[in-house]
Amino acid sequence: MQKSLIVALDFPEKKEVMGFLAHFDKEKLYVKVGMELFYQEGPRIVEYLIAEGHDVFLDLKLHDIPHTVYQAMKGLGKLGVTMTNLHAAGGKEMMKAGLEGLMEGAGTRRPNLIAVTQLTSMSEKRMQQDLLIDAKLDDVVLHYARNALEAGLDGVVCSSLEASMLRDALGAEFKKVTPGIRMKEDSVDDQKRVVTPLQARQFGATEIVVGRSITRAENPLKAYEAILQQWQGVEIG
Ligand code: C5P
Repeated sequence: MQKSLIVALDFPEKKEVMGFLAHFDKEKLYVKVGMELFYQEGPRIVEYLIAEGHDVFLDLKLHDIPHTVYQAMKGLGKLGVTMTNLHAAGGKEMMKAGLEGLMEGAGTRRPNLIAVTQLTSMSEKRMQQDLLIDAKLDDVVLHYARNALEAGLDGVVCSSLEASMLRDALGAEFKKVTPGIRMKEDSVDDQKRVVTPLQARQFGATEIVVGRSITRAENPLKAYEAILQQWQGVEIG
């Protein structure tokens, strides 16, 4: 079964990734590689992680003209990623082109493609003022998510707090991949609104992305297991 707890490898270099993964012994993870690591280590880091048996969510948030996104996604599909993403703000045509490219590159496999609706760092006020989008943030998130569904994508990256709205409107199957997860006892860091793994599940998240609560834990394996157990619905005493 496809794993649904995604560990964010927010490290600048492969050396640190290897140091972190050493805590996991034989446990194979579903990891997220974002811009920080990818832009420094390149596609080799993805190939390395896959060769080690991990699944990779490549979080590069593509946003360009449809043809360019098509070509770029074709390359990402060849890497063997399990999931990748693009910005819904690029429009339906761009999303469709991205999906086509990804599928073309992946061959017989069908990686998941999800869309970023609005970054959770964007407030309604800033969206209205800076982007001149005269609408409620929730309405924009829902509209972009619907566009993603219509373009054939598998889901969206969203806040857990948007997940139940998206589940009600677009169904339980459509992926809602949610960051901003903390255990009750963890520090919140720079995340403004956080939820526990159990709350994320209740709100309708289908996958959770967890970074610092695991990567900065004294015992990353123990932190991973505790989060996994709660995410899977069994609260630990
Ligand atoms: O360390 P933490 O658990 O806060 O990391 C969350 C991960 O999810 C980071 O890689 C961060 O960039 C990413 N992310 C996020 N909020 C979003 C989108 C992505 O925190 N809206």
